[in-house]
Amino acid sequence: MKGYLKVEHSTKLHGKVSLIGAKNAVLVIMASLILTEGKSTLKNVPFSDDIMQMIQLLRDLGAEVLFNKETHTLEIDTTFLVRCQVKKEIMKQMRASILVMGPLLARFGKVNIALPGGCIIGARPINYHLNNLRKMGASIQIEGEYLFAHAKKLKSQRIVLEYPSVGATENIVMIAVAAQGTTRIINASLEPEVLDFIAVLKKMGAKIVIEPPATIAIEGGALLKPVEHTIMYDRLEAGSLLLAAAITGGKIELPHAPAYNLDVFLLKLQEMGHYIEIGSEGIGVTLKATHSPKAVSFKTAPYPGFPTDLQAPMMVAQCLASGTATIDETVFENRLLHVHELQKMGAQIKVDGSRATVIGVDELYGTPVIASDIRGGCALLLAGLAAKGITTISGVHHLSRGYESIQKKLNDMGASLEYVDAAMFVHHNYGRIIEYQ
Ligand code: UD1
Repeated sequence: MKGYLKVEHSTKLHGKVSLIGAKNAVLVIMASLILTEGKSTLKNVPFSDDIMQMIQLLRDLGAEVLFNKETHTLEIDTTFLVRCQVKKEIMKQMRASILVMGPLLARFGKVNIALPGGCIIGARPINYHLNNLRKMGASIQIEGEYLFAHAKKLKSQRIVLEYPSVGATENIVMIAVAAQGTTRIINASLEPEVLDFIAVLKKMGAKIVIEPPATIAIEGGALLKPVEHTIMYDRLEAGSLLLAAAITGGKIELPHAPAYNLDVFLLKLQEMGHYIEIGSEGIGVTLKATHSPKAVSFKTAPYPGFPTDLQAPMMVAQCLASGTATIDETVFENRLLHVHELQKMGAQIKVDGSRATVIGVDELYGTPVIASDIRGGCALLLAGLAAKGITTISGVHHLSRGYESIQKKLNDMGASLEYVDAAMFVHHNYGRIIEYQ
């Protein structure tokens, strides 16, 4: 086994933990800086592998990027972008690389990229991106693994998304700010990270209005200027840490947690019997775990529904609750890969299509397991905390793609986690990426 995370059984994890900025907001905001020339500053940026990959991608295009890991400050100067091609090796590292397609097309009138990689949680087609970019004037050809697009003139449109795709909404918004006229995206994604990205575009000078219930109206053509922005706190990191305390019968205080973005998730934790206190104006969450958690059923859905990214971690809590829970994954068709690994640990789960039925057990048992995506990896880590004995998780590079210092944060709460021979990107490239302190 090449590199793994060793997780020992823990009880009653407790502490006050600081969160970091949301990776899913940072990635698209970094891509959006291609639309402007000059130096922008992003604060509260996590030191995680996907962010490092996006730094590499932007550097490859000609951007100057400085990242101070200590202050979590990222400076990106996009004045001298020279390329509109992205190397295949970089595109394959993460799904979010597709987010540079819109802004590169807007800036250069053409783009040449490989099709993106990322977590294996479904077919993950990009038809909503491509069909609507075509509608807005782009000519797009796919040859093998490569995509070539060009556009002489981008035109505003009334776009109807049959599903509120996060990435498609973001790409279309970035094309729309560069197109003349007003584009409306009907049934747009309004996930909190999309709203943080829109806030940045507005600071840059873009004219964007949200029209209820779920339309984004973009008046294109504004001259965009560089920006300074503090990234929203990561609701998914918050959810993962809350579950660590819940599953181990502990207590946690997250002063920065955006509780107002986690309503359905917090409701489900309360239904399980956990005590939840929310800070004033919806910021900050404290959880005190119940000793007799009840199983609760839930269904993932676009925001403000139960986040698909917390489905796998929440499943672990159901594995150890009393009763039976049904979990319906409605966002991605293949996001139950963690089930097989949890079964190895003694979980009783049956899968029928995209529904998992979980019968609570008294104990899970430590064993070697394999993480195959970011949130599935988090689920295995959580299961390892609760399991008797020692759990070893391979494929842990997935965890470092999405979480900064999760090992340290949990260890500070009383856990015993140790990376053994795990070669993650952030560790390999530490000296090269951090160019000032
Ligand atoms: C983003 C998040 C990811 C989260 C997901 C849903 C980032 C970097 N990633 O991913 O963490 O789990 O939102 O909240 O922000 N679809 C199509 N055609 C398309 C695009 C999407 O059929 O052109 C489908 C997907 O296969 C999936 C569903 O729509 O079944 C949702 O995908 P989407 O919202 O686009 O997710 P991502 O932007 O990839």
